[in-house]
Amino acid sequence: MTAAPSNTTPPERIDTEEQLDEVMTRPGPELIREVSTLPSPLLILGAAGKMGPSLAVRVRRAAEAAGANLEVVAISRFSSAGTREWLESRGVRTLSCDLLERSAVTQLPNSPNVIYLVGLKFGTSQNPSMTWAVNTLVPSFVAERFAQARIVALSTGNVYSLTSLSKGGSVETDPLTPLGEYANAAVARERLFEYYSRKNGTPVVLLRLNYAVDLRYGVLLEIAQKVWARRPVDVTMGYFNCIWQGDANEMIVRSLRLAESPTAAFNLTGPEILSVREVAQGFGELMERPAQATGVATETALLSNASRLCGILGQPATAVDTVMRWTAHWVKQGSRTLGKPTHFEVRDGGY
Ligand SMILES: NC(=O)c1ccc[n+]([C@@H]2O[C@H](COP(=O)([O-])OP(=O)(O)OC[C@H]3O[C@@H](n4cnc5c(N)ncnc54)[C@H](OP(=O)(O)O)[C@@H]3O)[C@@H](O)[C@H]2O)c1
Repeated sequence: MTAAPSNTTPPERIDTEEQLDEVMTRPGPELIREVSTLPSPLLILGAAGKMGPSLAVRVRRAAEAAGANLEVVAISRFSSAGTREWLESRGVRTLSCDLLERSAVTQLPNSPNVIYLVGLKFGTSQNPSMTWAVNTLVPSFVAERFAQARIVALSTGNVYSLTSLSKGGSVETDPLTPLGEYANAAVARERLFEYYSRKNGTPVVLLRLNYAVDLRYGVLLEIAQKVWARRPVDVTMGYFNCIWQGDANEMIVRSLRLAESPTAAFNLTGPEILSVREVAQGFGELMERPAQATGVATETALLSNASRLCGILGQPATAVDTVMRWTAHWVKQGSRTLGKPTHFEVRDGGY
């Protein structure tokens, strides 16, 4: 994939996965500018999940566009077939590593900059000990190993309790006292990065993300699929925030310069609070199928306010209306999806 102009206007619709990948990995002008300042290599840990591959290729494309000599190294177990080849064929080096093995983490290459995407959420109810291990041991091993690096570590908006709609979303100084084992393990992930940041002076920035949307997974896809299948959309969890995954990836890499010791924390999401009912109606119009709703919207929801981060990095480039238009077309065409539901409806913290 070649580096494309960064300021291309978003396409009217996206027809193929190849086109989706092109749009999703197209770097913005700020990233192209800022990537030149990054010394090589850049390590991405937990790179084989939903976000990592497109993030890695986006940085590669930014480096190519800037003429920068930046090696991007994607590190994961690569449990899903094809991801490694997809990355390698786009100029990203891959290393297979089980980051739960401390001795394997110590052997990873040195790097001045690390992006940390490892996490485990789903399956917590069945095996909570694995969720705690992935979200606490891996951050500890990584923070020890990369004490000299700058680290951007992904966290989640789930670290907050449900918040009242009128408040406009949780802010970074709110208490981290959520419900459920996953969310508490995510708080622990943050606290361990903070502990090592204080102990070793490691600059770290924690990004509390909710929710990234792709056309192959995410809250918008799930609502659109229900409308298209003429199934009712449960609006009890009545509101949410989301951000186009390409924009989230852009902001994740650009946040490297915000790392500090002790850790800084920022919410990462889109600027608006979206109503599940209104989004369903919007998809109904786009897909010419009446949306049906069930339940009554509760006054509290999992909501974050990302004003602080957007005040520094700017607003996400892709409007939610654009993503909805793309999503409606994607669902109508019956294009491939990941089959990985977000469970954004969950209100009791059980995943
Ligand atoms: N996507 C969202 O909407 C969203 C929302 C809120 C927060 N986040 C946060 O953002 C981060 C990235 O999101 P994502 O959606 O890409 O997550 P994801 O799909 O769960 O990807 C994380 C990847 O980490 C790798 N991993 C897990 N355990 C590992 C281990 N022991 N050793 C090496 N690699 C391991 C896994 O790939 P392998 O099995 O191949 O190793 C996994 O696919 C997550 O940590 C999550 O907390 C994401």
